[in-house]
Amino acid sequence: MAETKELPLMEKIVALCKRRGFIYPSSEIYGGINGFWDYGPLGAELKRNVKELWWNTMTRLRDDVVGLDATIIMHPQIWKASGHVDTFSDPMVDCKTCKGRFRADQLDEIPCPQKPSKTVAQCPGEKTPPRAFNLMFQTWVGPVQDESALAYLRPETAQAIFAQFKNVLETSRQKVPFGIAQIGKAFRNEVTPRNYTFRSREFEQMELEYFIRPDEAVEAICGRVAAVEELLARGPLGEPQPDWGWQAWHKYWVEERIRFYESIGLPRETLVEYWQKPEELAHYARATVDILFKFPFGKRNERGELIGEELEGIAARSDFDLSQHERYSGKPMRVFDEELRAAWAKLDPARQQALWQRYFEHRKNYLTRTARPGETPEQIERAAREDADAFAKGHYIPHVIEPSAGVDRLVLALICNAYAEDQMPDEKGNLETRVVLRFHPRIAPIKAAVLPLVRNKPELVRKAIEIRDTLRPHLTVFYDDAGAIGRRYRRQDEAGTPFCITVDFDTLGEKGPELKDTVTVRYRDDGRQERLRIDALLPWLLERIR
Ligand code: GAP
Repeated sequence: MAETKELPLMEKIVALCKRRGFIYPSSEIYGGINGFWDYGPLGAELKRNVKELWWNTMTRLRDDVVGLDATIIMHPQIWKASGHVDTFSDPMVDCKTCKGRFRADQLDEIPCPQKPSKTVAQCPGEKTPPRAFNLMFQTWVGPVQDESALAYLRPETAQAIFAQFKNVLETSRQKVPFGIAQIGKAFRNEVTPRNYTFRSREFEQMELEYFIRPDEAVEAICGRVAAVEELLARGPLGEPQPDWGWQAWHKYWVEERIRFYESIGLPRETLVEYWQKPEELAHYARATVDILFKFPFGKRNERGELIGEELEGIAARSDFDLSQHERYSGKPMRVFDEELRAAWAKLDPARQQALWQRYFEHRKNYLTRTARPGETPEQIERAAREDADAFAKGHYIPHVIEPSAGVDRLVLALICNAYAEDQMPDEKGNLETRVVLRFHPRIAPIKAAVLPLVRNKPELVRKAIEIRDTLRPHLTVFYDDAGAIGRRYRRQDEAGTPFCITVDFDTLGEKGPELKDTVTVRYRDDGRQERLRIDALLPWLLERIR
């Protein structure tokens, strides 16, 4: 990022996004609607590239992850089982002076509507006591709008994965450990949407639920659970191993996800690996790592430095979710693990007893935490005993590691990271300030622009169109013949196009046969130019954008 000053940089980015067609306010002709954003032609391409790269990395390039594309509206019991109906809320306060409605935990970050130089916490208006505000959008399914028809727009894509776990397992020929990935819309009625698209009311998520064996099963099969500290002392974790417990898998996914962000152009120094403190963990999480990106806004440390805002959360969710769906739906979520059954038979009785006991304690703990009114300790004990007995025969509910990322936050991070202002000579050689988006070619909305030097020379235009048509099936190409060539370069710089291909008189062989059928390729970042043969263009470009 070219500048460190918070407001001007963000304002410039927002203005550029609007001007160049990355992001528009939704419903703008009617005054907009708070917390909703549309992606214009360049934004739609950028977003599509981000999702495609995530999908390829997480599913197509792996043997152990398959995809899902589920509905946005699901059976409302799903949200009861997941805990969203009862606990997915933010503390909200009303200001009696300005009539504004705010999140109680963010009062010292939000500008006061009456005195924007102050925060809401500093503004004198009397506030109501905080009350819980559920973030789920409600709707009704069918013609009758009563309690029985109530449904929710999903606030996360994850729950559909849990609800379809058994179907996917049975139809995909996968075995634990394996994952199910999904990209899709999520909706949250955020009390105070803010920071541009960062906190929106409608957004997209890219979520993986990766199902693993409980540690007791790993220990029964491998004789031990690899100590994560020892593994980490040897360096990056590398390929998954059978003796990994949940901690190694969790760390593995943190490493994988950071590698992904680096591969699409977010430098490591812009990312922060933040381990949530025990008091910050969600009720289902054993550990959560947030990957933060240093956006040009957000919280600062005591030295005034930006500390980063969440791009993605990677949670170790134990067997909480599948257990909840088993209890609420009455449908079994256990898997049968032949390796566990075979290994168990070979364990000595003391080892069997120790592992049985640990598994029993784990299940009892879960069942106690989620006990329904009227459920007695004896009933809980009996259920936990049944689970542990089933475990000894090879049956268990898999545990889950969940890397959950936001598409819109990532798109915003990529734009903020790419934004730069520098000096570049104009056509007369005078230095001028230009705005450039230095996207990694992998995610750039347009990979190459094809530009005939002039538009009034038919052979030149014909040649340029021929090149565009050859490249078009393989990469996103933009054809532009309007205006001076320097101006066209600047337009592509602002769009983040890494390569401009100029078709000129040399291409036609007018200055000699040796340059015939060659073009100029201009690099976005430093304006450097080189000449390439037209027939070498496609492989040259493909090598640089993959
Ligand atoms: N299934 C877990 C889950 O949904 P989360 O931390 O609430 O966890 C995951 O959300 C990711 O979704 C976040 O890291 C963020 O990137 C994105 N996200 C969440 N709320 C958002 C919002 N209001 N606007 C944009 N993105 C959001």
